[in-house]
Amino acid sequence: MNSIFENIANGLAENGYAVVDHFLSDEEVKNILGLKEFKSGLDHFKKAGIGKNQSHHINESIRGDYIHWVDKSSADPFLRIYLNRLEQLIQFLNENLFLSLKDFEVHMTVYPAGSFYKRHLDQFNRDDHRKLSVICYLNEDWLENEGGQLRMFLPEGSVDFFPTAGRLICFRSDQVEHEVLPATRPRLSITGWILDQHAALKHL
Ligand code: OGA
Ligand code: MN
Repeated sequence: MNSIFENIANGLAENGYAVVDHFLSDEEVKNILGLKEFKSGLDHFKKAGIGKNQSHHINESIRGDYIHWVDKSSADPFLRIYLNRLEQLIQFLNENLFLSLKDFEVHMTVYPAGSFYKRHLDQFNRDDHRKLSVICYLNEDWLENEGGQLRMFLPEGSVDFFPTAGRLICFRSDQVEHEVLPATRPRLSITGWILDQHAALKHL
């Protein structure tokens, strides 16, 4: 894992983003896909909105994903493996990039076929505590012609990455605008944010 953490730290320091494969092994992905949340259609999920608190509203023309916030204190052991790895990543980044990251929040995510998330930034306002966006994809045997790329808009132009199983993408929440392109099959992931303060239980 240490070389994976190093690649993430280097990517973040040099480019503001990092893409690594095998953050989760094939077996770890399979175990997470077997959890009841992902097994029972969208029963455990709700439509994601945009904005925070009072300004929270649902807008199908901006984002079409469904989310389920993870309660870290009671997470299933298979999900716990991923959460523990994120905790190790936070510790590694604090030690090696001299950051003071404190906590993280994650939700399970399903983009039904045809849905997308238009270009946006993950920080809603200046005092947002989201520092790094971290997405781990769960899509086995993803084919390029199925779409679903994450497109990041960088100073030097845009780059696209497919949501392949076990891949982790991490980027600076305050800097990297990005969008999710529509796919021809459901697109599953665990989406999260590393914070510079302790996460409140606001979502639960
Ligand atoms: C988000 C997001 C990207 C992805 O949930 O804010 O941009 O690749 N997700 O799923
Ligand atoms: Mn985003």
